[in-house]
Amino acid sequence: MYNRPRRNRKNVIIRDLIQETHLSTNHLIYPIFLVDGTNKKEKIDSLPNIYRWSLDLLLKEIEECISLGIRFFDIFPAVDDSLKNNTASYSYAEDNFYLKGIRKIKETFPDIVLMSDVAMDPYSSDGHDGIVINGEIDNDETLPILAKMSIAQAQAGIDIIGPSDMMDGRVGYIREELDLHGFTNVSIMSYCAKYASAYYGPFRDALNSAPKFGDKKSYQMNPANKREALIEAELDISEGADMIMVKPATLYLDVIHMLKENFETPVTAYNVSGEYAMIHAAAQKGWLNYDNAMSEMLLSIKRAGADGILTYFAKDYAKLARNL
Ligand code: PBG
Repeated sequence: MYNRPRRNRKNVIIRDLIQETHLSTNHLIYPIFLVDGTNKKEKIDSLPNIYRWSLDLLLKEIEECISLGIRFFDIFPAVDDSLKNNTASYSYAEDNFYLKGIRKIKETFPDIVLMSDVAMDPYSSDGHDGIVINGEIDNDETLPILAKMSIAQAQAGIDIIGPSDMMDGRVGYIREELDLHGFTNVSIMSYCAKYASAYYGPFRDALNSAPKFGDKKSYQMNPANKREALIEAELDISEGADMIMVKPATLYLDVIHMLKENFETPVTAYNVSGEYAMIHAAAQKGWLNYDNAMSEMLLSIKRAGADGILTYFAKDYAKLARNL
């Protein structure tokens, strides 16, 4: 035997030397949930160790995350049902606590990057990402609402707009409106290949945002399709997306890899709530080692080609990376 691949694995120094994929806290984006009020740290049963924070406590949490090396946050609003309506008008209301929160967070921590979510579902009485007209999700009537939401977020100081709604043409529509309002420096990370996945369940528990009827299959992608992601990516990039996202992550590593191979635009992946919940549940039962399973999951996403990873594991990974 002339070739023995095991020789290159025989000790940790050699293994480290030839390691192909490297993951650090710099590659992670931490999704966080904001709720109105003060002194709130609400548990989410299906998302262990993730909370709905009121702004006062969230500022402290962000400070702690910064001390661990996390610099990039994606913020989601948990909106009271009484503020939801068919047009999601609270999403751009003057007194919106989410917009006030963005403003305060950016003011307190000017050096972090803050990303938003743009879709109607957290504010919609129908629980859909677009406007419901005669029982259908109307694409073109949704675009101006998404644009209003984006402008309001840009005015509040957001760095990156994250359209997660999967309406056609929304990236271009939002880009144009941002530019018209002078926000040429505000980026767009589009949820580009977002699949109609069962793995968003815990997130919908966190925001109480599950669809009130039907499902999201008329706008989110069919999990059986891969080539269709090329169409979505081509469109989003041509409409001005600065980064394109695949979601969920580990069940769609082939899609991440394909987009990375085919486009120069940076690719990110959303390691979604269900992926996080699975590892937690198994670790709680003693069936998986939490740290090892988390690290391997995140590494696999990076290896597939993701430049950045949105993950609820960000804080735990950052601690692990620092041996805390
Ligand atoms: C809202 C949105 C969803 C997620 C991110 N933005 C849920 C959905 O589309 O139903 C899911 C994130 C996760 O599961 O962690 N449009």
